[in-house]
Amino acid sequence: MDLNNKTVWITGASSGIGRALALECAEHGASVILSARNTEKLTALKNTLPGDGHLVITIDLSKPEHVYDDITKLMPTLPPIDILINNGGVSQRSLFLENDFKVYRQLMEVNYFGLVALTKAVLPSMVARKHGSVVAISSVAGKVGSKFRTGYSGSKYAVVGFMDCLRAEVAQYNINCLTICPGSIKTNIAHNSLNNQGVAQNKAEDSIENGMDVSLAAKKMVKAIQANKQEIVIGKGLSKWSVTIKRFFPTLFNYLTAKVEYR
Ligand SMILES: NC(=O)c1ccc[n+]([C@@H]2O[C@H](COP(=O)([O-])OP(=O)(O)OC[C@H]3O[C@@H](n4cnc5c(N)ncnc54)[C@H](OP(=O)(O)O)[C@@H]3O)[C@@H](O)[C@H]2O)c1
Repeated sequence: MDLNNKTVWITGASSGIGRALALECAEHGASVILSARNTEKLTALKNTLPGDGHLVITIDLSKPEHVYDDITKLMPTLPPIDILINNGGVSQRSLFLENDFKVYRQLMEVNYFGLVALTKAVLPSMVARKHGSVVAISSVAGKVGSKFRTGYSGSKYAVVGFMDCLRAEVAQYNINCLTICPGSIKTNIAHNSLNNQGVAQNKAEDSIENGMDVSLAAKKMVKAIQANKQEIVIGKGLSKWSVTIKRFFPTLFNYLTAKVEYR
């Protein structure tokens, strides 16, 4: 879908991939609705975006029922949404045997139920117009597993499954569903990743520090939206190729993930 004069709603727009996507979409002539918890950062970003019609809607994805109720009420007051990009999310770096159980709920609430809730609130307006695009930022961790990510991978695999089913259901309404699976992209994701108590670990990691430049990643994502793709993997090095390696050499891949501590 061409982005010019379209309205694009982006969650997780206060940082990293979401922020870069907002800039890229606005460059292509879209009006952007910016969502996340940090209203101050969203407002500062809104004031730097080219073009007009941009809005800030503060959302806490960890409260999916509130997201659904609040946004359903708000929808009639908003411009028609052409593209919904469910990007907001949080990662994890902690071992299953050491994790407090609540960490699993935290990850599912934000990465899965929050995404489902917002999509459920926005989608009926796309169906009514027989036009739209739903995008989900899953992860390479939604296609392959590795240590320290049992909760994160579980939530991102769930997103892939949700999107596959949704795609089948809404194709008849001319709505495209694109699942984006990034590998390592240089953002604050490592700092914000939850530890075994569900608290941000607040430290950098080599894989992310050496990851793909976030603006380049956003450009590739926007190209995929313009081309109405259904699923893409974006990243560099091992993080990009791991999906293919697992598909063709699953036993080797599983052997390696048990040996390697990928951070
Ligand atoms: N960077 C990577 O290597 C990579 C790889 C694969 C997938 N991803 C996925 O890409 C997406 C964006 O991550 P990023 O790399 O840009 O990380 P990031 O810099 O940490 O940004 C995460 C964004 O999600 C928002 N968010 C977190 N918890 C939220 C909540 N409870 N409610 C609403 N918004 C929330 C944050 O905003 P507030 O704190 O203001 O709420 C922030 O805008 C995530 O879904 C992540 O899983 C990233």
